[in-house]
Amino acid sequence: MAKSKVLIVGGTGYLGKRLVKASLGEGHETFVLSRREIGVDIDKVEMLISFKMLGAHLVPASFSDHASLVEAVKLVDVVICAVSGVHIRSHSIMLQLNLVRAIKEAGNVKRFLPSEFGTDPARMEKATEPGNVVFQDKMVVRKAIEEAGIPYTYVSANCFAGYFVGGLCQFGKILPSRDSVIIHGDGYKKAIYVVEDDIASYTIKTIDDPRTLNKTLYIRPPKNILSHREVVNIWEKLIGTELDKITISKEDFLASMKDLDYGQQVGLGHYHDVLYEGCLTNFEIGSEGEEASQLYPGVNYTAVEDFLKRYV
Ligand SMILES: NC(=O)c1ccc[n+]([C@@H]2O[C@H](COP(=O)([O-])OP(=O)(O)OC[C@H]3O[C@@H](n4cnc5c(N)ncnc54)[C@H](OP(=O)(O)O)[C@@H]3O)[C@@H](O)[C@H]2O)c1
Repeated sequence: MAKSKVLIVGGTGYLGKRLVKASLGEGHETFVLSRREIGVDIDKVEMLISFKMLGAHLVPASFSDHASLVEAVKLVDVVICAVSGVHIRSHSIMLQLNLVRAIKEAGNVKRFLPSEFGTDPARMEKATEPGNVVFQDKMVVRKAIEEAGIPYTYVSANCFAGYFVGGLCQFGKILPSRDSVIIHGDGYKKAIYVVEDDIASYTIKTIDDPRTLNKTLYIRPPKNILSHREVVNIWEKLIGTELDKITISKEDFLASMKDLDYGQQVGLGHYHDVLYEGCLTNFEIGSEGEEASQLYPGVNYTAVEDFLKRYV
């Protein structure tokens, strides 16, 4: 079977750039949306040109120009969207409704992967406010996709390693401490950490796979299902030092949110749900989903220990 042609939307982003490279690396003819709004953002322009030099096609379009989106999606079989969805950076999840309208009108797309790549929003009805806004927005996009009859795969990538592991799960930190760490609750709730390049690899593996059509792909690399204490312990072994540990109760953690700005409150809400509630591991995958490391054992994923070695 010929490999699908792929359009990456949000290709200059933190995850998007990895998706572009993974798509090219797997031999897919790869198109990258080039938004006119990027203007003179030289870093983005340079990145887009670097994709072109790797063999990607750049497709000029804009979320505010419906016809341009329709023309862009008509070029491909699969659309992967990785627009922003982290309030401390930028949040443009709802813009995807324009993309859904374009895909519906074009009528040729065999699979759409919307910008998800985190906690499964379908399981987050009880998420902490105001962090729940992200899950609600992602569910609005899902509803639009399903009502339009667009074939899809949702990728639940759990915790990005760069954000969570890099900072030893300390909100607002992305480098690991060498002296002390705050432990959330008892620190024994399990979470799942996935290195961003691996998320891109699994995502590209799934786009032509009939087993994940109209399903959720959960990425659960077995070695990376760890409690907060286990993550800290791996780091301590790597640096040969035991960190001072201060525990913070759920109540104190939630109370600490109140003086923060909105974006930080959203982020802290997610940390709460992951580290205190165990929202990533408190369910079994049912018939609605598949697990990535089982479907694609050929992806040699990075273990948390190896990821942390970068920071020693
Ligand atoms: N599980 C986790 O731990 C975790 C962590 C972070 C993110 N995520 C999820 O991963 C996905 C991607 O996030 P990211 O951090 O990679 O995103 P990002 O780097 O903040 O942004 C991605 C891209 O979105 C596009 N974009 C940004 N603002 C836009 C606007 N106003 N209009 C149109 N396009 C805009 C830009 O692409 P172009 O300029 O190239 O068009 C940008 O490069 C999101 O769904 C997010 O929720 C999950």
